[in-house]
Amino acid sequence: MIERHGDDFRALIEAGQIDILFANKVELAALTGKPDFDAGLAALAPKVPVLVVTRSEDGAVAIAHGERHEVAAETVSHVVDTTGAGDLFAAGFLAGYARKASIHRCLAMGAVAAAEIISHYGARPEADLKALMAEKLG
Ligand SMILES: Nc1ncnc2c1ncn2[C@@H]1O[C@H](COP(=O)(O)OP(=O)(O)OP(=O)(O)O)[C@@H](O)[C@H]1O
Ligand SMILES: [Mg+2]
Repeated sequence: MIERHGDDFRALIEAGQIDILFANKVELAALTGKPDFDAGLAALAPKVPVLVVTRSEDGAVAIAHGERHEVAAETVSHVVDTTGAGDLFAAGFLAGYARKASIHRCLAMGAVAAAEIISHYGARPEADLKALMAEKLG
């Protein structure tokens, strides 16, 4: 997507049109032209209020209003199918964000939702995510 439409994405970012930007680490590198993870974060973070970058089994980083927050990935005993990991991470994060949870909790909610989706085939949750959040995060 970024190879084809990168200039359009970059124009939206430069125009201040993006409130929350989600990317995985490969997309971050493609978008910024910086292969180094931290250099990519440093280049992009000042341009969006909230930047969330996922890095598979290494968890995720958010830079929100200049402050950096990190979350580890949940331990998944058997990764079955990673389709939907990024989408469910965003879903969990946004569910917290919409309820004005702390960025740390938003990240944790993303990690819990993503871990559920990669534990089985298909990109729709099979567990009750509300119950799962309560169990894992209180
Ligand atoms: N092997 C793993 N073990 C535990 N959690 C994982 C694993 N892979 C991904 N995750 C979780 O999913 C989140 C998103 O993963 P990733 O960075 O691979 O996104 P993505 O590349 O957008 O995924 P997708 O395949 O859906 O496009 C990670 O931040 C992490 O919380
Ligand atoms: Mg993705």
